[in-house]
Amino acid sequence: MNVLRVLANPKPVAKSASLQIEQAFTEALKAKHPDATIATIDVYRDDLPQIDEKVLPSHFGAPPADEETARKMARRGEILGQLLAADLIVIATPMWNFNAPPMLKAWVDTVLVAGKTFRYTASGPEGLAKGKKAVLCIASGGVYEGPTAALDTLTPMLKTQLGFIGITDVTELRAPGQGAGGEKAAASTAAAIEAAKAAAARF
Ligand SMILES: Cc1cc2nc3c(=O)[nH]c(=O)nc-3n(C[C@H](O)[C@H](O)[C@H](O)COP(=O)(O)O)c2cc1C
Repeated sequence: MNVLRVLANPKPVAKSASLQIEQAFTEALKAKHPDATIATIDVYRDDLPQIDEKVLPSHFGAPPADEETARKMARRGEILGQLLAADLIVIATPMWNFNAPPMLKAWVDTVLVAGKTFRYTASGPEGLAKGKKAVLCIASGGVYEGPTAALDTLTPMLKTQLGFIGITDVTELRAPGQGAGGEKAAASTAAAIEAAKAAAARF
């Protein structure tokens, strides 16, 4: 099994519910599959060249305009390669302003590439990353259920983006209500960690 961990939080693990959920999941997964290959991209600490004026044409296949753009495109290719090599993608992210931290979106903009992870056909777009699975480890300050569920634009966005490239088997592990702090927040994280261990047993 090839696993790709996508860590999208500038906080240290000890202060992040989403990273703690991811850690519990991955540790349990490793215990069950000691031979699993695990790659990691930390989008706040690793090099992740974003689309800019010169990268944009190359994103659509134009030769790099200069050496720096060539280097950026090579690195973007490596990041895409990590996704293509993975059977399971584990994403850890906080909710920021009802959505993702910008560097997670930058990662998405690196791995959704026409001709690599999706293609356009006569009958519409087709995902080329079929057969992969994803796990989302999400922490939020609020609780988005019932009438407030629609305020969570993070989960539907990630599921749309993953679905677009053919990844529709998505497990959600969430620790909502972190804004309450204290025992309530700790209980939410603890429940998500238990859910993460149980989820890992199903892979
Ligand atoms: C910049 C920023 C924006 C945030 N926006 C929201 C938000 O829109 N909704 C929400 O429920 N929590 C929001 N929060 C709170 C975080 O989601 C919460 O602290 C969560 O625990 C972060 O995950 P972490 O513990 O893994 O860092 C925000 C936090 C930050 C730093």
